[in-house]
Amino acid sequence: MEPFAHHSLLDVEGLTRVDVERILDTAEAFLQVSRRPVRKVPTLRGKTVINLFYEASTRTRTSFELAGKRLSADVINMSVSASSVKKGETLQDTCRTLQAMHPDVIVIRHASSGAPSYVASKIGCSVINAGDGMHAHPTQALLDAFTIRRAKGTLDNLVVTIVGDISHSRVARSNAHLLKLFGCEVRVVGPRTLLPAAVDSLGVRVFDRLEDGLEGADVVMVLRIQRERLEGALLPSLREYSRTFGIGPKTIGPAKPDAIIMHPGPMNRGVEIESLLADGERSVVLQQVEAGVAVRMALLYLLAGEATEPPAVGEVH
Ligand code: CP
Repeated sequence: MEPFAHHSLLDVEGLTRVDVERILDTAEAFLQVSRRPVRKVPTLRGKTVINLFYEASTRTRTSFELAGKRLSADVINMSVSASSVKKGETLQDTCRTLQAMHPDVIVIRHASSGAPSYVASKIGCSVINAGDGMHAHPTQALLDAFTIRRAKGTLDNLVVTIVGDISHSRVARSNAHLLKLFGCEVRVVGPRTLLPAAVDSLGVRVFDRLEDGLEGADVVMVLRIQRERLEGALLPSLREYSRTFGIGPKTIGPAKPDAIIMHPGPMNRGVEIESLLADGERSVVLQQVEAGVAVRMALLYLLAGEATEPPAVGEVH
């Protein structure tokens, strides 16, 4: 099998359509591993993965830990709050220290855009960006693509509407880049104050009115209102936002009847999405979570595994 062309995964921009298809196809095999009674394969035995999360996370952190463990890697979850970071150790020193322990992969989430690239430039092992500031969240975009492909049967030429706080969203940026590789029409909808100044550079269509942005959409991706990044100045009130841009049974109408509803989590129920849709038949929110483990298994395998075939569906070790 051809070696994977990348040493690290820092953003989506470096990936080709062929790379993305390879990751998603590999993830299909690992999804089956997660669904069987014995959810473990020996693929990464003897390899070490360090999860280094400088920001809060439920889904990404847990799924990287599970992904590593299901591949039989040794997985270390470094708690930044209980580490020497609290004593003032720099990111560079922390990473050089970890590198001296010979990990194969460091997974990093950081509040500063560019932190994973900086780490990758300083150390030799593979680095995976688990979300950096407002810049990128490539594994989220990949798991979203995996979920869409499973639900719709294809990624090609879909209309995908992303609703919410685009300006602060690394998820929106990474999804826009990935979906354009497949010819999707990517639309963004939200208050002007929550759209980035250079929104046109994302190659998306911008809509001010929710009903216009949703018209004929195949996929509706709802983003969290990031209260911690808004600094109180960009929205009149959450109630106002909810009334104008909230996704619920009364507002979803213009999307296609079989449109799927996505949310990367964590959700602000009653703000950007109503529970009737978040938990309804069209919601694929929990499929996204399941996909997160499979896609992260695929990435760890492609970046750190030997040049072996992924496990065949049904193969139990
Ligand atoms: N989607 C996502 O990144 O969720 P967490 O912050 O819980 O990891």
